[in-house]
Amino acid sequence: MKFICLTLLIMCGITDSRSEQYDVVGPVDPVFAVAGEDVILPCSVKPNISVVDMRVEWFRSELKDSQLVHLYEDHDDRNTEQIQSYRERTKLNHQELQRGNASLKLSSVQISDEGRYKCFIQSESWYNDATVDVSVEAVGRPPVITVDGFDDSGGLHLQCESKGWNPEPDLEWLDSEGAILSSETTETHRNTEGFSVKHSITVHHSVGKIHCRVKLRNHKLETQIITSNKRFNPWRTSIILISAVVLLIVIAGMLMAAFIQKNRKHDQLLTEKSRIQGECDNLQDDIGRIQQGEFIYLLFHYLFKVFAFFLHLHLHL
Ligand SMILES: *[C@@H]1O[C@H](CO)[C@@H](O)[C@H](O)[C@H]1NC(C)=O
Ligand SMILES: *[C@@H]1O[C@H](CO)[C@@H](O)[C@H](O)[C@H]1NC(C)=O
Repeated sequence: MKFICLTLLIMCGITDSRSEQYDVVGPVDPVFAVAGEDVILPCSVKPNISVVDMRVEWFRSELKDSQLVHLYEDHDDRNTEQIQSYRERTKLNHQELQRGNASLKLSSVQISDEGRYKCFIQSESWYNDATVDVSVEAVGRPPVITVDGFDDSGGLHLQCESKGWNPEPDLEWLDSEGAILSSETTETHRNTEGFSVKHSITVHHSVGKIHCRVKLRNHKLETQIITSNKRFNPWRTSIILISAVVLLIVIAGMLMAAFIQKNRKHDQLLTEKSRIQGECDNLQDDIGRIQQGEFIYLLFHYLFKVFAFFLHLHLHL
């Protein structure tokens, strides 16, 4: 009797400790999330025992400092140590915990949510975890084409930029026939807002419409620019400059000519003045001479009269 009881106890103990052993299972493939939408990170125990009395911890396994995404402990959520960016965005379904389902619901997914998560489930005598990889897909903003100037040979520099993508999108230039034009420079930056791509191209001939297309899987955003048929003439600036210089020279010449003419007139006036002065002097001389002449005339006149008187006197005597 005692033996049977002991055996039963041992058997019960074995069963008990077996029932405490479980596996924590996550998804086989990475979980795809779309930025702005909600996502479920699957995690459950096998066999499907209740985890209501256990500790369920979700954390980011590759982050350095704070790692906690969600903590369930002592029958409640304890999120005071939670990473700031997950605040109010995580939810464990407590009903589902009874069925061994510790999946985490993450709402309004951000690009920064991408990465590796651990679902860690701990009972009093056992623990295990599962890994969940999350990749976030974010469709960025429509590309923006900027005209970045002209080069010496008349080529038109264009830049196309698009931000907010995840993962990195493909950017391509297309002409109006849809043929791909190769980009000259390509730049990719990554920050918390995702990938931003910038490509540049120089268009040498009048191609009419040029498209910039950004693609990610089945998402496609496109912007086009219509280039004028008038080819940019790089000489135009030079011609304008040369014209301006020529105009300046002409104006300067005219001013100089006017100045010289004015000076010459001044000289002419001066010569005229001195000529008139000379004539004046001559006239004065003449007057003087005339006056002198008059005196001589009068002298002769009187001399003649005296002579005539004497002659008369002589004739009458
Ligand atoms: C686990 O719970 C989540 C909700 O938290 C639910 O969406 C999912 O379907 C459940 N998984 C299973 C296998 O029942
Ligand atoms: C565990 O899973 C089995 C089927 O695999 C199901 O019949 C049973 O109801 C589940 N138990 C709980 C607690 O969900």
